[in-house]
Amino acid sequence: MCLCLTAPTVEENLSIVDKYRGYADLVEFRVDKLNPREYPHALRLPSLLEGLPAILTVRRKEDGGGFTGSEAERLQKLHACIPHGFRYVDLEADVRDEGILKSAHEKGVRVIRSFHDFQGVPDDLPERIRSLPRSADEIPKAALFPRSIKDLIRLINGSGAVKGDKIILGMGEFGFPTRVLAAKLGGYLSFTSEKRINAAPGQVDPETLINVYRFREIDGYTALFGIIGNPVLHTRSPGIHNPAFGKLGLNCVYVPFHTDSLEHFRELTDLLDVKGFSVTIPFKERIIPFLSEKGEEIDHIGSCNTVTVTSAGWQGRNFDYIGFLKPLQKELGHKGKACSRATVIGAGGASRAVVYALRKLGMEVLIVNRTPERAKRTAEQLGCSWAPLSGDSHSRISGYADIIVQTTSVGMHPDVDGDPLAGYHFTGSEIVYDLVYTPNVTKMMKRAGEAGCTVIGGLEMLLEQAYCQFETFTGRKYPGLD
Ligand code: ATR
Repeated sequence: MCLCLTAPTVEENLSIVDKYRGYADLVEFRVDKLNPREYPHALRLPSLLEGLPAILTVRRKEDGGGFTGSEAERLQKLHACIPHGFRYVDLEADVRDEGILKSAHEKGVRVIRSFHDFQGVPDDLPERIRSLPRSADEIPKAALFPRSIKDLIRLINGSGAVKGDKIILGMGEFGFPTRVLAAKLGGYLSFTSEKRINAAPGQVDPETLINVYRFREIDGYTALFGIIGNPVLHTRSPGIHNPAFGKLGLNCVYVPFHTDSLEHFRELTDLLDVKGFSVTIPFKERIIPFLSEKGEEIDHIGSCNTVTVTSAGWQGRNFDYIGFLKPLQKELGHKGKACSRATVIGAGGASRAVVYALRKLGMEVLIVNRTPERAKRTAEQLGCSWAPLSGDSHSRISGYADIIVQTTSVGMHPDVDGDPLAGYHFTGSEIVYDLVYTPNVTKMMKRAGEAGCTVIGGLEMLLEQAYCQFETFTGRKYPGLD
């Protein structure tokens, strides 16, 4: 794992190295990101790394770097730095400077021969890599910017066609899995950067890569699981599944796949032998025609949040309703009181899972939604009452207020001031359950808590449905984590 150093001073770069000592195997010193006043100090850096190997890089602007001087000045800088203890030097495909190559050879500095493509992934990636003008021990490097799952497939196929040491990485949201799976894909290293910097789009920080994704444990045999969505990189699910793999000693990893097409993702599951995946917005409903088998709850709910990949095809389940029910049943047990009437705010996929669960408990349900026709449609399908989401419905809601469940994105970060029931008077006897989990306590939950209501947040549901997924994926119970 290579830590990119892109701070403007040597001092700051060294403090980043200190912060991640024990995580990084080597560092990339981006001299092009230094304040030019610091150039004279650049030579000192390798000797201050206490044995950590360093890559020397002076990246041009057109290759995504920060060096603004002439090409002659850049080559001069490379030439000056090479003899000062660097283990590697990154040279772009067109750099044929004999002096630099000779100096690198004499000092035992290994050349990384790089090219960059910020537009996508070239069709002829393997040929492009093979045609890099390099000597036998140079390491080819391609930094590409996949714009779709199709691009990601091309990148992975291209990488597979290149033998020997190689660094072939995808930037951006679609490229994210290549950073985690570098070892599984036969890559020489993966780049990381300090959390607040993120030197390249989609780059992940060392602690997340090592502690969440268990980067050091990943190899060619690691079984792959994941989550598809768009957007999806913010998901908390990798932080739930990966530590549990670690705890049980399973050689598995769970990675987010930013996805634009289910057809292409199916190709990717074949290519990478993905064993199973979670499904989030906007694919929960769209994925149903792709399933070869589905749990009976999917027919009622109309959406799927879990897929296991088998030789017979994709098997779908929806664990949202179990995830929803578990924390609720715990509270109902505590309350020791019969609840028979509930309000559900929202009429989308999440709402359908909630209404299905509440109906299974035998409750009468009122669905309130911003778009009344959608509330009406869902209510008719699931045998409930409905009303528009507005102040005029508050008296109606108070007749269905043993439990109030909030399933929309109102109140979710960054809309933290949103409250779908603004002006509604909680009596304190309601159970108020908000599926939003960022923030942990939404404005509506806070108001309900202050009125004395029992309040449940979305994190508990997220965890419970993840435990069900984990069991389906691995055949093992989710372990208690320390
Ligand atoms: P999910 O699968 O997460 O339920 P969805 O199917 O897109 O996602 O449904 C989103 C729900 O949140 C809908 O009930 C939507 O109301 P509309 O049917 O009127 O679109 C509701 N929703 C989203 N943004 C909202 C907002 N700003 N105010 C009120 N309701 C909102």
